[in-house]
Amino acid sequence: MQNFTYCNPVKIVFGKNTIAKINELVEPGAKVLLTYGGGSIKKNGVYRQVKNALKKRKIVEFGGIEPNPTYETCIKAIRLGRKEKINFILAVGGGSVLDGSKFIAAGIPYKGKDPWDIIKSRGQSVKSAIPMGTVLTLPATGSEMNTFAVISKLSTTEKLAFGSPHTYPKFSILDPLTTYSLDKKQLRNGIVDAFVHVAEEYATVDLNTPLQDRYAEAIFKTLVDIAPAVMSGKKDYDARATFMWTATQALCGLLSCGVIGDWSTHGIGHELTAFFGLAHAETLAIVLPAIWKYKINNKAAKLAKLAQNVYGVRTGSTKQKAAAAIKNTIKFFHSIGMPTSFKDYGITQKETEKVVARFAQRGDVLGENGDIDAKAVRKILKLGL
Ligand code: NZQ
Ligand code: ZN
Repeated sequence: MQNFTYCNPVKIVFGKNTIAKINELVEPGAKVLLTYGGGSIKKNGVYRQVKNALKKRKIVEFGGIEPNPTYETCIKAIRLGRKEKINFILAVGGGSVLDGSKFIAAGIPYKGKDPWDIIKSRGQSVKSAIPMGTVLTLPATGSEMNTFAVISKLSTTEKLAFGSPHTYPKFSILDPLTTYSLDKKQLRNGIVDAFVHVAEEYATVDLNTPLQDRYAEAIFKTLVDIAPAVMSGKKDYDARATFMWTATQALCGLLSCGVIGDWSTHGIGHELTAFFGLAHAETLAIVLPAIWKYKINNKAAKLAKLAQNVYGVRTGSTKQKAAAAIKNTIKFFHSIGMPTSFKDYGITQKETEKVVARFAQRGDVLGENGDIDAKAVRKILKLGL
């Protein structure tokens, strides 16, 4: 096991009708910037619950943070927050609203010329941030209990992640009832995103970490087991509650303790969103099986464990079990209506060369062995056709 330091200070308030507790959680005397997305919270009653809970507070609103939040939108909120001298941010929505709000929280007190530098430095230049709380409405990203945010810049077709200890939310409210208004695509995307977060932390080098492995396998298996109930569209509270807590656990840092992460599926996936507009999870469902096929020899030990402990594969060599893990994962994605090929989106190999060119230009290398360069990205993308 590798050395690690783990500290997750986010207070989680979980359960039915917990939005009413916001008033106790937001700092007394705070002037709140209330951030949200394209309006789902106004249709499903979450906005009303938030406003009722914060009745006597000073609130400035900023709506319109889009899926895959952009620098161009967030910079307007940074200007508004500075002008209004807000000192608390309450982000209400899915991962995009939470991520955009983390950038806004770090951007308001940022002393440099352009807050985009925060992203370019991957968060290293963040020295402070406005304290922030969240009300999560879409289980998927784990943003509610981690430091990360992924921001897109339309003018340069970029999508990049940053993280800083200053951008942990102070609290996150997770009310599973808020997920009842999600459509099947959003539910499917959330399940796949959470699954791939675990995969990035698990399917790497086997470092003899049985506790972390079993914890990861529990999350994989829970997602596989609850997927039919979640996807049924029924108001099944227990299934939604389990889904919400599972997705949070998938990327709150605990699974990463002492192990080596991969994150190449996400690295390549972000470029696919930037160039082709695919939703985050849609990119992951194409890239993950392709990387596993490309890296089957390096990842065989962990993939075989996945086959055995999650999908119940008992027979065959390590390599055969690893192949079964890939096959079963693709089957699982298809079972919830998630495509796994570029063909499903009409994207040709020629078009994917843009992504290869970007990796070549940046000189980035990805993966647990740091050996996924532009040439490897080309081979991986071909496996996703
Ligand atoms: O904008 P509104 O109107 O709120 O609608 C949203 C949006 O259109 C809607 N929605 C959210 N909650 C809803 C709802 N509709 C009905 N009922 C509800 N309860 O769903 C749509 C998608 O929302 P979005 O926030 O974009 O989805 P998600 O939570 O999947 O977030 C995706 C973003 O998070 C980043 C992704 O790259 C992407 O930009 N990620 C963030 C991570 C992190 N911070 O740790 C890690 C992830 O790997 C990921 O990269
Ligand atoms: Zn993700």
